[in-house]
Amino acid sequence: MESNDFKRHIAVTGGAGFIGSNLLLLLVPRYPDDFFVNIDALTYAGNLSNLATIEGADNYRFERLDITEPEAVRECFRRYKFDGVIHLAAESHVDRSILGPEAFVRTNVLGTANLLEAARAQEHSVRFVHVSTDEVFGSLEQVGKFTAESPYRPSSPYAASKAAADHLVRAYHRTYGMETIITNCSNNFGPYQFPEKLIPLVIRNAVAGKPIPVYGNGLQRRDWLFVRDHCEALDRAFRRGRSGATYLAGADTDITNIDLIRRLCRALDARLGGTPREQLITHVTDRPGHDYRYALDVSSLREELEWRPQCTFDEALEATIDWYLTHEDWLAACDSGVYREYYEQNYANR
Ligand code: NAD
Ligand code: DAU
Repeated sequence: MESNDFKRHIAVTGGAGFIGSNLLLLLVPRYPDDFFVNIDALTYAGNLSNLATIEGADNYRFERLDITEPEAVRECFRRYKFDGVIHLAAESHVDRSILGPEAFVRTNVLGTANLLEAARAQEHSVRFVHVSTDEVFGSLEQVGKFTAESPYRPSSPYAASKAAADHLVRAYHRTYGMETIITNCSNNFGPYQFPEKLIPLVIRNAVAGKPIPVYGNGLQRRDWLFVRDHCEALDRAFRRGRSGATYLAGADTDITNIDLIRRLCRALDARLGGTPREQLITHVTDRPGHDYRYALDVSSLREELEWRPQCTFDEALEATIDWYLTHEDWLAACDSGVYREYYEQNYANR
């Protein structure tokens, strides 16, 4: 089949990353009349093997492309005449943004601007879903929740770069009437998450008997959402979301980092036996500018788009642990020299 035979052409940027892979694995079989183009530069965080089950699908294609290159982005949009964009490509790790913000400004700000310009240059209207983060709102105290009207107060260079991208997307809606939707989501977890992030890092170190680094006192609170539930929210936002709207996505989990880490250790002890893994917990210097707490009012997503997380935190955590324990090869493939260098830089002198 030619790509012209399909009803709609949809670009998914960052489709080889953690959330992007889970999203494509959901959408490609679900919508056989739509044609999906995965636009990804394959940085350290991109892994095409995640997508092995759909790589031969008629309605899927991969384009290796760096969104910071405006001409390449424009050419790709001219070729596929996209009707929709679900934009996930980003530098996504807060600690890396603290060590070196430049790549975050380039990909997250400039890259988003290039995509918006390429979408604006199309002859027909393009629906643009920008996948953003709750970190744009900064930090909460013990109580309260962020709403779509909360002021922007990003703490890290990562959060600031995502905030800048959100502002650009809103500006394209207000100035050019572009059909845009922004989603701000809490911490995701699940299969295919790169082991620099807390949950896979803890599982990996705990299994290997290595120290489990806890930033500061570990009392920071996060709202963990299973990645497949986030992907369902993105699907609904793309298909049915109001143009110009902002949707917040979270699961109301609200657990401290230290409690989560202890829980992971106990779950691994129950499966694998051996010395209690909590003994590996090591408090290290806190993350500079560390946000204390995130929590989100998800009523728009619930009421307008009838979205609800489908699994409980416990079920999703168990499934995630099982996935990492049965995908040692996948984890080993993340272990490049570049990752070891990052790990050393981030953790050696804390
Ligand atoms: P990830 O780091 O796992 O994947 C990012 C993907 O983007 C990778 O495949 C990478 O190759 C690609 N990429 C990076 N720079 C690129 C460039 N210049 N050109 C083209 N592709 C490039 O990230 P993730 O955790 O899957 O996050 C996806 C999106 O969701 C990001 O925009 C992130 O800000 C947002 N988000 C993530 C979370 C979370 O908890 N992971 C929560 C809320 C929002
Ligand atoms: O809230 C949404 C954000 O969640 C996304 O926008 C980001 O892309 C995603 O990376 C995530 O950011 P966090 O900084 O919250 O996630 P991370 O897994 O890096 O850290 C989770 C918490 O655990 C945070 O409070 C820092 C702490 N932490 C993290 C690591 C890697 C540790 O205590 N030790 C660690 O080694």
